[in-house]
Amino acid sequence: MNLQGKAGIVTGAGRGIGRAVALLLAKEGASVVVNDPGFGRGGEATEEKPADAVVAEIQAFQGRASANYSSVADYAATGRMVAQCVDTYGKIDFVVNIAGMLRERMIWNMTEDDFDQVIAVHLKGNWNMCHHAIKVMRGARYGRIVNFSSDAFKGSVGQCNYAAAKAGIIGLTRSIAREAGRYGITANAMCPMAATRMTVNDGVIAGWKRRLERGLLTQAQYESRMAMPGPEFVAPMVAYLCTEESRDINGQLFHAERSMIHTYQFGEEARAIYKYDDGGMFSVNELIETVPASLMNGIPNVAPPDEQ
Ligand SMILES: NC(=O)c1ccc[n+]([C@@H]2O[C@H](COP(=O)([O-])OP(=O)(O)OC[C@H]3O[C@@H](n4cnc5c(N)ncnc54)[C@H](O)[C@@H]3O)[C@@H](O)[C@H]2O)c1
Repeated sequence: MNLQGKAGIVTGAGRGIGRAVALLLAKEGASVVVNDPGFGRGGEATEEKPADAVVAEIQAFQGRASANYSSVADYAATGRMVAQCVDTYGKIDFVVNIAGMLRERMIWNMTEDDFDQVIAVHLKGNWNMCHHAIKVMRGARYGRIVNFSSDAFKGSVGQCNYAAAKAGIIGLTRSIAREAGRYGITANAMCPMAATRMTVNDGVIAGWKRRLERGLLTQAQYESRMAMPGPEFVAPMVAYLCTEESRDINGQLFHAERSMIHTYQFGEEARAIYKYDDGGMFSVNELIETVPASLMNGIPNVAPPDEQ
């Protein structure tokens, strides 16, 4: 067991990827605060208490777990969640921020509330948890943070709120890594792919069928989406990032799914143009003339205008 004696929190652990991560961390010997208020896919309150079921599953194999029902968007409640972990298990070694929801609309239809709620749960929620936990971890000079981003950070139609939050989580994680690394704390982020209610449900499947019929998806792409692997394939990399052995992995981003884990190359200088005369100032005319054939050579418009 690789996490014997460790303790920490998994947010959004009542379902999907969070549940799979909480179960594996507990199987690896960790004591786990299983956080989940049981929200619906759009972040709406429900009567469900999925955290209780996950705690029961962990206790069934003699693992140690306790439930927490707070929203990660609530600053004060996340402070109490960290205190619950410390009070119950005497310490907090890891926080895995998985809680999430969606409010999908094109930007021209998206309400201010759609934007604010998604930012509150994902970006602010990650910050809330990291802020409170790292205050304690810093004193212990040890900690592991695993935040959940998404490949949506690259840009995702109908999800500009979510994509912005998930891109923000990468910047948050990389900053925390630099700030807290000297105290023995690592912070890394995951971009998972797994079949959950978030990714494979009746509405999503209907959308894929429509795109297949309109020739926007190939049969192979459609079939691979329908066969999306389960969340259990994401959990081992997360558990690894919670171990002592991952001490030198800090400020990194990983994609994980069945059969593949990969890193990303981004944020590095890729192409450049230079100007040394005229005090180093490009003119707009120069940019009109040079950018298409230099910086943007071979790079297409991601969504060109429809033919009139
Ligand atoms: N499934 C994928 O392929 C995929 C891809 C990219 C990113 N992600 C990210 O992974 C994470 C988990 O997604 P999932 O697919 O397991 O979704 P899911 O809907 O199955 O599970 C999310 C859980 O988070 C909980 N939750 C929602 N709002 C919360 C809040 N304010 N506080 C605490 N808990 C809250 C929900 O109750 C739910 O149980 C999310 O952050 C999601 O954005 C998932």
